This record gives sequence, structure tokens and C-alpha cells, in this order.
Amino acid sequence: MPEPRWDRLLLNASLASFEVGAKDPLLERGAIGVQHGRIAWVGRLDDLPAAPNELAATVESVDGALITPGLIDCHTHLVFGGDRAAEFEQRLNGTSYEEIARAGGGIAATVSATRDASEEQLYTQSVPRAQALQADGVTTLEIKSGYGLELETERRLLRVARRLGREQGLTVRTSFLGLHALPPEYRDRRDAYVALVCDAMLPELAAEGLVDAVDAFCENIGFSREETRRLFERARQLGLPVKLHAEQLSDLDGASLVAEYGGLSADHLEHLGESGVKAMAAAGTVAVLLPGAYHVLRETRAPPIALLRQHGVPIAVATDCNPGTSPMLSLRLAASMACTLFGLTPLEALRGVTVHAARALGLSDRGTLTPGQRADLVVWNVRQPAELCYWVGGGLARTIYVAGEPVSRRKASRRLPNAS
Ligand code: NIG
Ligand code: FE
Repeated sequence: MPEPRWDRLLLNASLASFEVGAKDPLLERGAIGVQHGRIAWVGRLDDLPAAPNELAATVESVDGALITPGLIDCHTHLVFGGDRAAEFEQRLNGTSYEEIARAGGGIAATVSATRDASEEQLYTQSVPRAQALQADGVTTLEIKSGYGLELETERRLLRVARRLGREQGLTVRTSFLGLHALPPEYRDRRDAYVALVCDAMLPELAAEGLVDAVDAFCENIGFSREETRRLFERARQLGLPVKLHAEQLSDLDGASLVAEYGGLSADHLEHLGESGVKAMAAAGTVAVLLPGAYHVLRETRAPPIALLRQHGVPIAVATDCNPGTSPMLSLRLAASMACTLFGLTPLEALRGVTVHAARALGLSDRGTLTPGQRADLVVWNVRQPAELCYWVGGGLARTIYVAGEPVSRRKASRRLPNAS
């Protein structure tokens, strides 16, 4: 018998790939072949070029289950110290997020807890969060710094993010978010802090290989357009892509700014106007929707979905997992809420956590079920894609493959490439 050409063949699957332009997202009675960690073949079971056992060393039937690309969470602040459950109660009693921030709570409270935590403590506290996202189908996630606001702690956060990727069988993309909040010790010296971030922290952390992209919080309680521009100029010099927390609480026209720099994404966007939408469309900047923060802050103004659709802006959806505005540990729940709260269709929401999320991270090797893509796959205990948004909670993921290997097996082997 000739040598099998593939490592693994999954049979009898409902295959759902969400790339734009595909006529029908669902291919029933499908099969998917994997070789060297990549998808080698996708098609109908009946069209396989030979008998399954001749084609692959390992053959598994999934009995009609749905297979999708591994989910991609393109906006998280998953590594932090402490929690802010008390603020949740304060907000329920009527104090606003901005009021809490101006009174020295909010992000500043997490900064202080994070500065107090060792690298090991931060890692140990972050593992269950990463594992919860993974258990619900995430194979790639972005993690931001921004709770250190001084070099040592920002470095610690980014190192922990990298380690989560290496040791948890996830691909982790890091974003440096030094311009997240003004640290208390710089209260009267804004310019000095912005200079420190742009001229010292970013170049140093980038040189250490800890930064995949650069982010900022462009907001009245964060940083101005001018301050953000200064950061983006430095990122450009260093050859790093940019993204932005934009138009979350007010309209500073941050979306146009990040688009001007060819940004990967503009995120939140509840207050986005048409000029920002047009600038994003022209630059190919992805709109990242974060319904968890909208829900937790009990906002009432949704992002302008109709305008985004009208101008053809790609839409992604993410958890924004963070201790203040979105303590959310399920990307599927974010997709579900993007449907119920923002009016996305399930197909749009699922594109938002796969193919468009990949684009928001600048990754073109994943997010669809296409030959040549990384074999990051999820086998689900459902048959229809819409069910991934329809079920609120519940452990729906049956098996997760990372680069073609079941996740638990990779964990057991303790050799976990953080392939990116
Ligand atoms: O994406 N808006 C700024 N950053 C986070 C919130 C961080 C926090 O409150 O700790 C966000 O919502
Ligand atoms: Fe955020």
C-alpha cells in the first residue's frame, strides 16, 4: 500500500467556512485532510481521491458534527492582577465608568494590583482565563499590555502573554497599550508620560520581540488624537502595525486617525460617524465590535452597523476580556451578543470571530477552511453554524485541533509550539 499522503483525515463533517463571497457557508457530508499542521484537502466525502485509509495515517469520523476554523479573539486584556467586582456593584448603584476612572478607580485600580503581582502570579491568574476561552473554541487570541504603565510591569505582562501562547497551545499576538491610562505618578506631567511611552518603552519592548502591534485608548478619559498620533508615528518608524480603542464613549474621530496609518482595526466604535466609516473602508481597517463592554457598561448606543455594511467595512467581534468593562470568558457569547444587541446576522458574527478577526490581527494563514491554512479546527456538538450564536453558554466544543493535533494531546506532550 502506498504511504498515506496526509497525517489525519476527518470524515462525515458539516464544514463551515465563513469567507466572504462563499455561496453557502455549509458543506455537508464533508471531509478535511491535514498534513504538516495545515489543511491539505477540503471537499465532499464522495469526492475523496482514494479510500480514506489509503489517504491518511489517522482517520476519524465526526458523525455529522459541525467543523469550523478555530475561533480568533482579536481584542483582549486577559493578563491583569486583581479584579474589579466591587466596581461592578458601584456601577449597578449608578456611578458611571468615567466617574470611577476620574476618582482613581477603574484602569488605575487594576494597574496598582498588576504592579504588585509577580510574573508567576500573573501567569497563574491568567491561565484559567485563557483556558476558558480555549474550551469554548478559541485557538488564537490577542493580549494587550496596558495595566503596567511603566516599563518593568508592561514587560511582565507581555512576557506572560507570550508564555500563555507557548504553554497553553494557543497562538498569542501581543499589543503594546502603554497609552491606556495616565499613571498616577504622571498626573501633572502628561507630556512626559507620552514621551516615555513613545521614545523609551515602545522601542525597548519592540526590540525585545514582545510587541506585535501598537494600541492606544483614544478617549477623553484616555489620550487625545495628537498624543495617539505621536505614538503611531513611532510605531510606523519601528515598522509595527497599529490599532485603536476608538469612539467608545465619545467621538474623537480616532477611527479616521488609525485608518490614516493603515491600521489593522478600530475597536468599540459605539460613537463612530460616517466619515470614520468611510476612512476605515478606504484603508481596509477592520471594525472590531465589543458587545461585552457595551453590555457591562449598560450602554444604549450601538455601533453604526448599517453604515459599516453599506461601506463594506469588515466586521470582527471580540470579548475585550478585561477586569473592568468586560469580564467575559466566551467568544461565542460575544458573537451571540453581537447578534442580539447589535443586530448582526449569525453568519456576520461568525465571520467576525474567524476570517475577519484573523484580518484584524494581520494573520492571513487562518480563519477559513481552505487548503494551505493552518489546521486550527473545532469540532462542535452541533450541526448548524447558527447554533454557535443561538446557544447561550454551554460547553459546545467537542474537540479542538491546533495545527492538526488535538489540544489535549499537545498539552500532554508538553511541546507546544506557539506557531504564529
Ligand atoms: O477595552 N477602554 C479601555 N480599555 C478597556 C477597559 C479596561 C478597563 O476598564 O480595565 C476596554 O474596555
Ligand atoms: Fe479594550
